[in-house]
Amino acid sequence: MRRAKISVIGAGNIGGECARSIAMKELGDVVLVDIPYQDDARKNLHMPKGKALDLACCGPVEKFDAKITGTFDYADTAGSDVVVITAGLPRKPGMSRDDLVKVNSGIVKSVSENVKKYSPDATVIVVSNPLDAMVYVAWKVTGFPAHRVMGQAGALDVARYKTFLAWELGVSVEDIQGLLLGGHGDDMVPLPARTSVNGIPITELLPAEKINACVERAKAGGGEVVKLMGTSAWYAPSAGTVEMVEAIVRDKKRVIACAGYCEDEFGVAPGQKGKGYFVGVPCVLGAKGVEKIITFKMDATEQKFMEESISHVKELVAVVKQLNPELA
Ligand code: APR
Repeated sequence: MRRAKISVIGAGNIGGECARSIAMKELGDVVLVDIPYQDDARKNLHMPKGKALDLACCGPVEKFDAKITGTFDYADTAGSDVVVITAGLPRKPGMSRDDLVKVNSGIVKSVSENVKKYSPDATVIVVSNPLDAMVYVAWKVTGFPAHRVMGQAGALDVARYKTFLAWELGVSVEDIQGLLLGGHGDDMVPLPARTSVNGIPITELLPAEKINACVERAKAGGGEVVKLMGTSAWYAPSAGTVEMVEAIVRDKKRVIACAGYCEDEFGVAPGQKGKGYFVGVPCVLGAKGVEKIITFKMDATEQKFMEESISHVKELVAVVKQLNPELA
């Protein structure tokens, strides 16, 4: 049987760790794509090839059989089953959010054109920020059906939320069940009343201020890491991404919070056929991509957070459309 082919575009911190974890779990063969260094001193180097070589040599120790290739050439990605897009720049000092949208939408556009050309049947997971807008770019440029395009944010935010709750409760991280919806980070929609320790609501186990502290820490989790390391996180973002890759490649029907395409769902864009948005929602992930979005009736507080989150996603996408009228 043919192994799945998984291309990871952007062989930086998140891309490299995704490749390692995909290989360790033997989810398929990995193609790592990046661009040549732009400075004269390093222009003759080949970072993705070097990273792939280093990773491949973990195989005998970690006991995985996976082919790992590093390349500058999208032809090597041809026929990928899954493409993970991590290409992009982090926000630099003095850069506005709109500047970042401009730079990264240009990058995600060029990457998506190559995904469309070389892997027309792929399922695409976008990781590049600002996430909810970059998924929209990938969807528009590839023209893929919406169920084959999604963004990774919720898997990471939920992982952070569960970690802080488990620490607070003194229980295993494995025994926390819960979701967060909406946009990435600040825009997330907490659902404490629907979070439990093996079915026991956390609202019965912790006072509201302790739960709120965990929610706030999860919201600011990315920033906390940046303050400590001077650069953004990559282990947990990769773990969240590979959780999604695994659900797709192994057709697991996992329910994972991801940026999935919504119209009527959660009142994102009711009745607006083809004019929806990608928002963090509970998605059933399997071989076909987002096979279903699970909806439920929110209470008034949850709905209020969701509406705020949706309006921020719409603002970001409006910036994308203004900068790239062809994507409107
Ligand atoms: N094609 C392919 N790769 C590209 C392109 C491009 N057009 N432009 C940039 N890259 C590569 C960079 O060369 C770099 O190796 O993307 C990689 C990004 O890696 P890092 O800078 O290490 O960033 P990382 O921490 O991995 O984050 C990647 O995910 O969470 C988001 O905000 C984060 O947008 C960022 C992305």
